[in-house]
Amino acid sequence: MTKPIKKAIFPVAGLGTRFLPATKAIPKEMLPVVDRPLIQYAVDEARDAGIEEFIFVTGRGKGAMEDHFDHSVELEQVLEERNKIEALEILHEAMPTAGHIAYVRQQKPLGLGHAVWCARNFIHDEPFVVVLPDDLILAAPGCLRQMVEAYQEVGGNVVAVEDVPREHTNRYGILDIVSDNGRLAEAKGLVEKPDPAVAPSTLSIIGRYILQPEVFAELDRHEKGAGGEIQLTDAMAKTIGKVPFHGLRFEGERYDCGSKLGFIEANLAFALASDELHDGVTDLIKKLV
Ligand code: G1P
Repeated sequence: MTKPIKKAIFPVAGLGTRFLPATKAIPKEMLPVVDRPLIQYAVDEARDAGIEEFIFVTGRGKGAMEDHFDHSVELEQVLEERNKIEALEILHEAMPTAGHIAYVRQQKPLGLGHAVWCARNFIHDEPFVVVLPDDLILAAPGCLRQMVEAYQEVGGNVVAVEDVPREHTNRYGILDIVSDNGRLAEAKGLVEKPDPAVAPSTLSIIGRYILQPEVFAELDRHEKGAGGEIQLTDAMAKTIGKVPFHGLRFEGERYDCGSKLGFIEANLAFALASDELHDGVTDLIKKLV
């Protein structure tokens, strides 16, 4: 029996420099894909996977996210007066239960491993998930739900993985595989952003993790890895042997919303997947190209 997973960490302290000036006064996680900010997709995907507690690791200038997950009293009043029931429902659906959302600051940008470590006191001794909102995944059921199902089969740590072209291994955490059935790959090691010439495989980690609390003992050491940062990949790698480690090739499409092209592709893909927008967007694309 695996322990149920109820908590999710969202590392959202990054500056979003690739989207300046759009991200000068708003966090990059508030950039919308169609009609929802990236952070909302991440929270909805987690909720759909059974997550009940949401822990945001934020930084300076990220207040808009806190407002997004709170009541907007004036707006709701106006919508009520105008009898805009649907709009009110959209606002209410977005809201986590009171007391089930928490914010902690990563005071210095020391890496993803450090960001996750900053949330340690909210987790204690239970498994949890980490969601990177930049990786937007179009999937039904959602990627995290697929991962929770895989976790119930194999336990331990489970990450979402994708095969990438070899020349891209230096952008990802890469698995050193011991066995692979085409859906689940078991790893005997992990390397953060290896040079293509030395990468142990081309199976790369996408921003969804189910982790056992043992990872905090490794993160406590604050060891620096690739790029001089405290890497989550290195801490996970050190738990292999104590905790099983699997990569799940999820069903669905992942869009890298940390890049402009990925972000634009995500907008097109999500619009094409919507009944309301599909035909209109198809016409628009035809007209433009
Ligand atoms: C982070 C992780 C990396 C992972 C990637 C997924 O890298 O360090 O292991 O493959 O997210 O998006 P970053 O994109 O923050 O450089």
